[in-house]
This record gives sequence, structure tokens and C-alpha cells, in this order.
Amino acid sequence: MQIIIFDDAEQVAENAAHWVSELITKKAKPVLGLATGSTPISLYKQLVNKHKTAGLSFSNVSSFNLDEYHNINADNSQSYRSFMKENLFDHVDIDQKNTFLPTCNNEQNPRVQGLSYEDNIKSLGGIDLQILGIGANGHIGFNEPTSSLSSRTRIKTLTQQTLTDNSRLFKEGEEQPSMAMTMGIATIMDARYVLLMATGENKAKAVKDMITGALSAMCPASALQMHENAVILLDKAAASQLEDQEYYIWADKQHRKINETYGFYHNY
Ligand code: PGA
Repeated sequence: MQIIIFDDAEQVAENAAHWVSELITKKAKPVLGLATGSTPISLYKQLVNKHKTAGLSFSNVSSFNLDEYHNINADNSQSYRSFMKENLFDHVDIDQKNTFLPTCNNEQNPRVQGLSYEDNIKSLGGIDLQILGIGANGHIGFNEPTSSLSSRTRIKTLTQQTLTDNSRLFKEGEEQPSMAMTMGIATIMDARYVLLMATGENKAKAVKDMITGALSAMCPASALQMHENAVILLDKAAASQLEDQEYYIWADKQHRKINETYGFYHNY
């Protein structure tokens, strides 16, 4: 794992935006894995800004979102499709026909929908860069604790903690779905690079478990210990429970020197 600690959340977003723009300017047909939630909003703001002021183009980009609520209409304001439109898709030149979310309604078989999402990812050559947040319980996507580390896109029942954490996003009287379709942990592990962003003190324990805890289905993000190219972007608060912060900061400085000498190289 490459662990990079920044002073604040804004710097985390700036660095994440740098990773995304590198990929989409260098690769002819880049495939992005996208995430919803509060954390990536500032990343999407940076990307929209780069599109508007620096001509960053998304015209050749395909995207796959990590998850979507079960049986929700795309035009429901709580759907993750709406979130993506509001925060990114409607403000850049991406062809929305090339943006995918793992949907499933009551008339569809979740197993069939999950398999077809996996096939769709494969048919476009796999995900180059997967953006991730992390839940306070260590989830990635909606892979809640006890999710199989070999799981694929499927339907999941959300934990009470996730429902409580996300209830802030629902207005009074609005129905909060308790099931979702999510990429599995093996799906995420197939991405060539994963970029996990975590900010704020409420993520500090999950971040510690992910980086220094045991590889365990009880902390799904710990699976990233097995990923060849996992980059973890943290602000100081999210890094606050890590014991070896000085080492990570020093190692990052050494990496930057290597990049300056030999050039930044991504094996996309
Ligand atoms: P958050 O969610 O960015 O809203 O904290 C992260 C997650 O649950 O993956």
C-alpha cells in the first residue's frame, strides 16, 4: 500500500484529481471506477473545474459506479445515478451512455444483474482506476463486514451502522432503501489501481484496521493489503490512529524523489 498523508481534505481531493486526470489524458479509452458519498464530492468539484478551466476531456471515458440502491428509479433524487449527474456527469463532456451503475429493480433477478455488470466491466477491458471511500465500519462499496473477500457484484443488505451513517442524506418522510447492488471485493481487487480517499476523525479507526489490522472480512477494506497498486490518500484526522505516520511521510518523500528522477509511471 502507498499511504499518503495530507494536511487537509482539500489536498486529498487535489491529489485524487491529479490521478484521474493523468489516467484520462494518457489512456485512449480509460475506464474509471466511481464512488458516491460525501468524500469524493470535492474530487468531482476539482474534476469539473479542470474540465471547465483546463480543457480536461471525459469524452473517451467509460465509468462504472461501485453501487446503487436496489429498486430505485434513476430519476429519484436519492439514486446514485442522480448523485453522479449532479456532481460530475452533467458538468463534463462524458457520454452518459458510457456511464454504468449496478442497477436492479424488483422485476429483475439480482444474480443475473450482478453477472451482467461483471461482464460489462470485462467487455470494456476492466477498470483502470477505482475511486473508493471507506465506511466507518471498514466497508468499501456496500461490502459490509462479513462480505466475502472473493465477492462479485451482487445484492447486499445494509448494516444498521451504514443506514444510520447515511440517514443524514435523507429528508424526513423520504424512504431510505435498506438493500443495494454493489461491486464485490474481488471486483474492486481486479481494478489496475485503487485510490482510496478517507478524511475526518470518524474514519480513523477504519483506516487503522484497513492498514495495520488483520486481513479480515470484518474489515472489508483490509483486502486492499493484497492489492498490487493500492494508494491510500488520508488527511491528518483520518490518519490520526496510525502509529507509523512518520515512516509513511518519509516513504512518500522518497517516492516523490524517485518520481522526479525517473518520471511518474502508471501501468494502465
Ligand atoms: P462517505 O462514505 O464518503 O459519505 O463518508 C464513504 C463510504 O461509505 O464508502
